[in-house]
Amino acid sequence: MTNEEAFLRIDFLSQELNKHNYQYYVLDQPSISDYDFDMLMNELILLEKAYPQYCHSDSPSQRVGGEVIKKFEQVRHKYPMLSLGNTYSESDIKDFYQRIMQSTIETENEIEYVCELKFDGAAISLWYENGLLTRALTRGDGIQGDDVTHNIKTIPSVPLKLRGNYPKSFEIRGEVVMPHKSFEMLNAQKLEEGSTPFANPRNAASGSLKLLDSKEVARRKLDCILYAFYSDDLPFNTHSEFLHAAAEWGFKISPHYEVYSSLEGIYSFIHKWDSARKDLPYDTDGAVIKVNDFQLQKMLGFTAKNPRWAVAYKYKAERVLTQLVSVDFQVGRTGAVTPVANLVPVPLGGTTVKRATLHNADVMQNLDLHHYDFVYLEKGGEIIPKIVGVELSKRLSSAPAVEFILNCPECNTPLIRMEGEAAWYCPNSDHCPPQIKGKLEHFISRKAMNIDSLGEGKIEMLFDNQMIRSVADLYQLTYDQLIGLEKVISVDSEDRKI
Ligand code: IVH
Repeated sequence: MTNEEAFLRIDFLSQELNKHNYQYYVLDQPSISDYDFDMLMNELILLEKAYPQYCHSDSPSQRVGGEVIKKFEQVRHKYPMLSLGNTYSESDIKDFYQRIMQSTIETENEIEYVCELKFDGAAISLWYENGLLTRALTRGDGIQGDDVTHNIKTIPSVPLKLRGNYPKSFEIRGEVVMPHKSFEMLNAQKLEEGSTPFANPRNAASGSLKLLDSKEVARRKLDCILYAFYSDDLPFNTHSEFLHAAAEWGFKISPHYEVYSSLEGIYSFIHKWDSARKDLPYDTDGAVIKVNDFQLQKMLGFTAKNPRWAVAYKYKAERVLTQLVSVDFQVGRTGAVTPVANLVPVPLGGTTVKRATLHNADVMQNLDLHHYDFVYLEKGGEIIPKIVGVELSKRLSSAPAVEFILNCPECNTPLIRMEGEAAWYCPNSDHCPPQIKGKLEHFISRKAMNIDSLGEGKIEMLFDNQMIRSVADLYQLTYDQLIGLEKVISVDSEDRKI
């Protein structure tokens, strides 16, 4: 291949991959199979290795990650990254609406408001110069943020190169979100490795941006939705014109926005999305109402912390009442004992909830839980539902309080509590079955020895058949013992299939 041929092929592959990427991740209209996409990407990576002089910073090969940085550079924001004032009721929204009406009494035209969803992730600022992504900063303290450009480049919906007629230099802001599917995949992997899963997609998104290894970020399958434009000279008059233009330049803009002039219109948006948002593939925690006209925005200005021209309306976490059936006490790998509530099954946020963790003795005591109490369950930003309170009017007068146990439910050893710690522990670490099993499972997990051929099921089986009692026993297992076990497991799983 001549230099010129290589240059042309790299250019062709880059354009093809950018096009398919845009169709898949921004428009949600796949135009090629995953296999064919990977083939084109592999060819591009190989060619760029052989001809590095033709590898550009906007190449789609940047998406797979690879750059590992030592630490984040702190960079000052050109425009401070403020937050929105929060409102929680229709009357708060009415106050906002009337305040704007009073401050714009001179304005003759009807004032328009753009209603958008409030995406629950990590705020991001992106800079584009001559159509190329040059810098991505986290919010940080609002004055300066971390340079996370290497990580942002791995997000397929973030354009590395813009299309169409874009301004020479501008900043665009939005939210990096972790879609539910990516979140479940990541947490399943965390559990398998024996590490702590993320509490919610928001924490997972911001935690991912702070990774030093961009390859790991690429694996986490983040998404990025843009919603604000910053430039010294604004090429549009309204926010809705910006949203429209940004979509043409290749950004992912949420299609779920509306323009209203009336208070009733704003209320209707808020009501509609309170339930409709549950069908979206990522978390939203409210609506945002923005004055559409940029000149009016400028006139209204900012308070010390928030813009006066926009406000957030926060949705209430969904809450249901159900009854406590019993409390189990589970012993973990470290010996810590966790109380878990068994509940009368109840639908909440798209799933049926039967159990909820009570975390530790302090949490249990603060709730002052009694047997058969009716409890309120909430699913806020957290995926795992929480018991947030007890309905005292429904308490049976004879019901005794739920007491924390004194002895280990597995080996009967008296529990101990270290000073300053919330958890009660079983100190019998060498002989308490769940502690031994937990340690063995941790030992074989991906984060530790990464023993592929063993999983939690086999460890359980080996332990229950008294073939292992410690890590050392794993290395004494014979071929015949393991083959015998394989058969038991495959027959067992066949049984389960039937
Ligand atoms: S506009 C001056 N629009 O919510 C702030 N923010 O406290 C302009 N957010 O930090 C922000 N969805 O991270 C805006 N549609 C949306 C948003 C949104 C989520 C976040 C953003 C901001 C926080 C507000």
